[in-house]
Amino acid sequence: MPEAPSSPGPAAPPAPGLAERYRSVRAYTEGLCAPLVTEDFVVSSMPDVSPTKWHLAHSSWFFETFVLTRHAPGYIPVNPRYAFLFNSYYVQAGERHCRAQRGLVTRPTVEEVLQYRRHVDEQMLKLLAGAPPPEVRSLVELGLHHEQQHQELLLTDIKHVMWTNPLRPALWPAGTAPWAAWHQSSPRPGAIGWREVPDGIRHVGNDTSGFAFDNERPAHRVFLDRYRIADRLVTNAEFRAFIEDGGYRRADLWLAAGWAIVQNEHRGAPIYWDQAGDGWTEFTLSGQLSLVDAAPVNHLSYFEADAYARWAGLRLPTEFEWEVAARTHPDLSQLFGERWQWTQSAYVAYPGFRPAPGAVGEYNGKWMSDQWVLRGSSCATPDGHARITYRNFFPSDARWQFTGIRLAAP
Ligand SMILES: [Fe+2]
Repeated sequence: MPEAPSSPGPAAPPAPGLAERYRSVRAYTEGLCAPLVTEDFVVSSMPDVSPTKWHLAHSSWFFETFVLTRHAPGYIPVNPRYAFLFNSYYVQAGERHCRAQRGLVTRPTVEEVLQYRRHVDEQMLKLLAGAPPPEVRSLVELGLHHEQQHQELLLTDIKHVMWTNPLRPALWPAGTAPWAAWHQSSPRPGAIGWREVPDGIRHVGNDTSGFAFDNERPAHRVFLDRYRIADRLVTNAEFRAFIEDGGYRRADLWLAAGWAIVQNEHRGAPIYWDQAGDGWTEFTLSGQLSLVDAAPVNHLSYFEADAYARWAGLRLPTEFEWEVAARTHPDLSQLFGERWQWTQSAYVAYPGFRPAPGAVGEYNGKWMSDQWVLRGSSCATPDGHARITYRNFFPSDARWQFTGIRLAAP
């Protein structure tokens, strides 16, 4: 029997290059705000959505709290009350403001938050210039990956804010966003092809010395039965066929909790879709556009993804089926950079999982209930952030992330 793979855990990133990466990640966040006007920064359109201003401040608070306050001798926080406003959920880091009311906070102003960022940046770069020890470098690395997660959240949140506005403003004219094309992301027409994966004991999880979140470790083995996986994501046209076939009116296709929501909220299409004559439009970061048939369907909840799979006579893959297929069939399209892909795996700890001690250990571990794992990455995920072992997670009815479907079959 083969030995279980070892999980050495991540090594601290080398000091050279870390300051440059710090500068570049922080600047990318601010670059995302280029099309916003001051009023856009302040609004939250639902409890799940944080204002852009909050994301800018919270990602700075993370460095201030976990790096500067503990490891930069003599560091004095810019404003001791900011910890209350900009701590998200770290109970061991103190009391915090109510998440649902973040959009009611008009002070500090956007300019004051940008000054806060500049102050944290100056102090962080001073610290990094002094060749900090591995423990500090690892925290900086975590802070950079944390900031990248907030870059995606900033985009999904501002999209919801713009959609809530009856004017439906466009933030980037179509085709001008500096990263992925928001709307027409690599359409894949033609029938789905299937890749087969034979049964066997498989290694999953992260056993590299590179960065990975604690929830990707330890690597371990699982047994998988033979299965097939789709070579591309489900398209808008395919999802429209589900709607036209009464998919949102058939209780037999839905999990009970999902069906209750469909009934209570009279849902009949994905969140950003609007019917326009015979066709559909979709709200995007470039405004309200015609639905592109061959583009991967976007912004589905787990309930919708699961109902679609049932309607198609298929199912969602487990997270390990996704990971093993991504390794054995790297020619699968749209694994990364298009839509996060719902899996039918509950977000739980891997065998032997141990969160880091202290407040930073609250990052992932305490969220391991009532959520599902998503794999891959989306068009809003910054370059260099995704990994084959990455485990994103959201509750069953989350629809405002860039989430789609890859099907599996026995
Ligand atoms: Fe955060």
